[in-house]
Amino acid sequence: MSNKSVVELGKANYMGNYSQFPIAIRSGKGIVLTDEDGKEYLDFVAGIAVNALGYGDEEEKKALLSVIESGVLHTSNLFYNSHAVHAAAMLNELAGSEEVFFCNSGAEANEAALKMARKYGSSRGRSQIISFSHSFHGRTYGAITVTGQEKYHKGFAPMLPDVVYAEFNDLDSVKALLSERTAAIIVEPLQGEGGIIPADKEFLEGLRKAADDCDAMLIFDEVQCGLGRTGKPFCFQHYGVTPDILTLAKALGGGLPMGAVAAFSRAKGIFAPGDHAATFGGNCAAAALAEVVMARIPELSASVEENGRYLGKKLHGLVERYPDLCSAERGMGYMRGLDLKVPPRDVIAACMEKGLLVCSAGYTVLRFVPPLIATKEDIDKAIGIVSEVLEGISQSQP
Ligand SMILES: Cc1ncc(COP(=O)(O)O)c(C=O)c1O
Repeated sequence: MSNKSVVELGKANYMGNYSQFPIAIRSGKGIVLTDEDGKEYLDFVAGIAVNALGYGDEEEKKALLSVIESGVLHTSNLFYNSHAVHAAAMLNELAGSEEVFFCNSGAEANEAALKMARKYGSSRGRSQIISFSHSFHGRTYGAITVTGQEKYHKGFAPMLPDVVYAEFNDLDSVKALLSERTAAIIVEPLQGEGGIIPADKEFLEGLRKAADDCDAMLIFDEVQCGLGRTGKPFCFQHYGVTPDILTLAKALGGGLPMGAVAAFSRAKGIFAPGDHAATFGGNCAAAALAEVVMARIPELSASVEENGRYLGKKLHGLVERYPDLCSAERGMGYMRGLDLKVPPRDVIAACMEKGLLVCSAGYTVLRFVPPLIATKEDIDKAIGIVSEVLEGISQSQP
């Protein structure tokens, strides 16, 4: 097929909820994707922070093939399967958590976390959830409610009751909302969709203390920033602040849908049989890929920490070189944003034309979330293309 024929078929049959770029991806190798017309792209999107090991990874291939050869892709949770239990043990080891629930997406992981918090709070008269400005937690009703951005609520009222919003990185705004009814605080340690905004250390420490003081659950949503992306296995490990509940998805299933909720000490044992479930949670194929991904996270985290600093430096260079087009560089590891003074979509389209895939975050930010295997040479190529695009815009401005 060609890009054109795939795009036309999509437009004729899809609902209109996406504004997609008019290319169709056919194949990938390493961190390079090829579209249906044969054009190649250096991929700094990674399926939006999903494809940690890039494309065509041999270990992923082997793991998936062995599941296919077993004949059993799915067992349901009426029974155990070896891949899911190993994946759970690996996640507990990596995160320092005590027990795990598997589901299929980030939104689903957050729904489960909210239910855990409400259940824990139910015998304590606590049901209120505090969330933050600029946050993003997914598109199901609970998840959009705790997403502190009006644009995601518009047209979908009423939201879930008993959710209030504080200002991100403003502890006083949290203190003003804390009460004997507070059940949970949900926060991304490094905000993604809201514009790549890292939490301050004192802020997360303050949230930990606030949750402890009122016996509420502190939920860290690491759906995007978890699993090596920030240069440590989990973003919270940069801060020395441990949550009660951690939610994950994106990179976990190596490209297959997989989400997880990990519970730490106080949150252990909240769910009893019958409280929660997901038919596909812990699916054999997704869990087999999760085993491969998690086995590589410690080593990849270390290279992301070093290469991420390099990416940050290069982006900072663009801010200095093009002050009329860029206002700031933010982020950690391989989750970085370049805040622009021009519409990100124009820059993204021009980069795509030159063979680089990047995406946006918030209204003004160009987001860089490459596969964790990306090298300094890949960074040089990507920054070279962004620089050419910014140079072109700068020269076309009056
Ligand atoms: C921090 C965060 N939480 C939750 C989600 C929702 O994940 P999903 O699209 O898998 O439901 C996302 C997706 O971008 C996210 O970035």
